[in-house]
Amino acid sequence: MAFRHRSTTHPNQVGPGRASAVPGATHHRSAIGLAVSLALVAFAFSHPAMSDQLKAPEDFAGSGDQVARSIDVFREIGRVLQHPRCVNCHPRGDSPLQGDDMRKHEPPVRRGEANIGVVGMRCTTCHQAKNIDHANLPGHPKWHLAPVEMAWEGKSLGEICRQISDPARNGGLSMDALLKHMAEDDLVGWGWKPDAGRMPVPGSQEQFGKLFAYWIKTGAHCPG
Ligand code: HEC
Ligand code: HEC
Repeated sequence: MAFRHRSTTHPNQVGPGRASAVPGATHHRSAIGLAVSLALVAFAFSHPAMSDQLKAPEDFAGSGDQVARSIDVFREIGRVLQHPRCVNCHPRGDSPLQGDDMRKHEPPVRRGEANIGVVGMRCTTCHQAKNIDHANLPGHPKWHLAPVEMAWEGKSLGEICRQISDPARNGGLSMDALLKHMAEDDLVGWGWKPDAGRMPVPGSQEQFGKLFAYWIKTGAHCPG
């Protein structure tokens, strides 16, 4: 509607200010409509930009003693770990989760003994080696579920922290190996480049790796 007014009457006069020059409810409504859509556009642009960032090690320079700083850093790391892109594949139950609301996977599937699905219904029956954007189907050559001892769903950040640093529950990884997994594993990396329409985890995998290395350097302390 706003566009029609613009092209048929005064091409150069655009924006809410025009409503006062032209009396009539329709014009007012379109001016308000325009103002509302401009506000929504502004919100859409500013909002993801704000939440998408990940802090860098330098951002923690001033914060408290080393233990407090280490915990603060892990809280930032937690914005990735507790993101639906990660948790959906680290569920505590038998089924993967999906979407930002972390609902149960539809169609119903089970993890099976090797976390790759069951006979006749493997994860790779549907999930291909690459994302299929037009079908909203995530993909990766190694697409399967994290074993149940690596479940993060429903756990506090402190619990997740202690669990991932425990070789008995993290697949036998040393701190160095854990860092390498976080910073370089490309199944983890899928979280930053999901299929179209799915929100990526904040920052980049490189920034995430730097933050994780800094957490280890500050003593790898976990939130309570
Ligand atoms: C019958 C087909 C099919 C099978 C088998 C299947 N999936 Fe899916 N999966 C889908 C579809 C379709 C979607 C996308 C749904 C949507 O739009 O969110 C999906 C989405 C997902 C997501 C959501 C990603 C996100 O962050 O939102 C995860 C995780 C997932 N599948 C894991 C698995 C795992 C692990 C297995 C094997 C145990 C598996 N899937 C087996 C069809 C399947
Ligand atoms: C498609 C499913 C899937 C997604 C998505 C996924 N993971 Fe995993 N994750 C796994 C599997 C499977 C393992 C078990 C080890 C392996 O086979 O690589 C695992 C293991 C891990 C481990 C090893 C140790 C442990 O205690 O859990 C870490 C760390 C990890 N993932 C981090 C992440 C992070 C961070 C994200 C999100 C950015 C993520 N994962 C997303 C499937 C997934």
